[in-house]
Amino acid sequence: MKIIITGGAGFIGSHVARHFVLTYPNYQIVNLDALTYAGNLANLKDIETEPNYSFVKGDIRDVSFIDELFVREQPDAVIHLAAESHVDRSISNPTDFVLTNVVGTVNLLNAARAIWGNDGTKRFYHVSTDEVYGALGETGMFTEETKYDPHSPYSASKAGSDHFVRAYHDTYGMNTVISNCSNNYGANHFPEKLIPLAIHNIKNNKPVPVYGKGENIRDWLWVNDHARAIDVIFHKAAPGSTYNIGGHNEWKNIDLIRLLCKIMDKKLGRAEGTSESLITFVKDRAGHDLRYAIDSSKLQRELGWVPSLQFEEGLEKTVDWYLSNEEWLENVTSGAYKDYYEAQYVQR
Ligand code: NAD
Ligand code: DAU
Repeated sequence: MKIIITGGAGFIGSHVARHFVLTYPNYQIVNLDALTYAGNLANLKDIETEPNYSFVKGDIRDVSFIDELFVREQPDAVIHLAAESHVDRSISNPTDFVLTNVVGTVNLLNAARAIWGNDGTKRFYHVSTDEVYGALGETGMFTEETKYDPHSPYSASKAGSDHFVRAYHDTYGMNTVISNCSNNYGANHFPEKLIPLAIHNIKNNKPVPVYGKGENIRDWLWVNDHARAIDVIFHKAAPGSTYNIGGHNEWKNIDLIRLLCKIMDKKLGRAEGTSESLITFVKDRAGHDLRYAIDSSKLQRELGWVPSLQFEEGLEKTVDWYLSNEEWLENVTSGAYKDYYEAQYVQR
């Protein structure tokens, strides 16, 4: 089987690509990625010489490139992760999100349909987010039946792409699958997102920006557990189905950051409380969703997936990874990152 994994040089995509390359030596894995600011081939250094892995640099917005690639590669399946993924960037530049997340997804669906025709054995898997469901109050959880209610340009674009994937199943009979996952954390996470940004700033004695009062709640899952869930869903889910993925692990942002500060103090040999003094409350994100919580019982019940790691242990592992991969962090936080970072926080 040959699988095109899109976005394989990004955070989650790199873990998914590694998982498939190493777990299934008889599959050919083609990593298709445009290497935007978020894509980084260093994330895949350890697998780049594996005989069942190859990399193609290319943009999913480019119709003729994508069509030709599919004709040339003749994939049996697509696992689609390539996207603009950061909510704050979607607030300042929504159009990029429409072009990559919506139009790019439709380009891939068209290219796949053109070579697969009615062959129902060929699978298109779209990796999506719990943010399409909108925001929760104090109680309740998102299930697969929760109505889509996206609020940010990012989540609206992901909802749009989910609808197109579903439409290609309902209209053309394409064998599609969608999974909607909660917040991931772990190695290779770009330091514009809360956890790696906080680790980076604490390490460098810089302010740790917490939006609003830090009372928003996210449901965190270790990225390797997400990759394992994608494996199970890819192999076992029925055509046209949808699965939620999450670890029943809700954290208020401020509590999470305080825990991270404690871990960092210990790891850096600082007196307890040193890192916490870096916490800085800044202007809230526009339209900031209050709470996400994923009910993943369908995935657990039907396909037997369960998360493998407790959050405290995973967070410590993540800190260890960042502290022992200084060069990775240095590389991704030099150049254009600095401009983005400065622009972000001057406004607040
Ligand atoms: P990321 O930003 O780290 O990586 C995205 C990758 O896509 C990068 O390698 C980038 O180069 C590539 N890419 C972007 N635009 C492209 C284009 N036009 N053509 C080809 N490649 C392009 O994102 P991530 O956090 O790894 O998220 C991966 C997917 O998982 C996304 O679809 C996201 O919506 C979804 N998701 C993310 C999370 C999370 O917590 N990070 C949770 C649920 C779902
Ligand atoms: O829920 C899944 C989604 O999780 C994915 O679909 C997105 O691709 C991914 O980026 C993530 O979105 P969030 O907006 O939840 O992640 P982020 O790390 O940007 O923010 C997490 C929370 O922390 C959120 O409530 C905003 C807050 N925050 C974020 C940053 C960057 C801060 O308080 N300070 C910050 O500097």
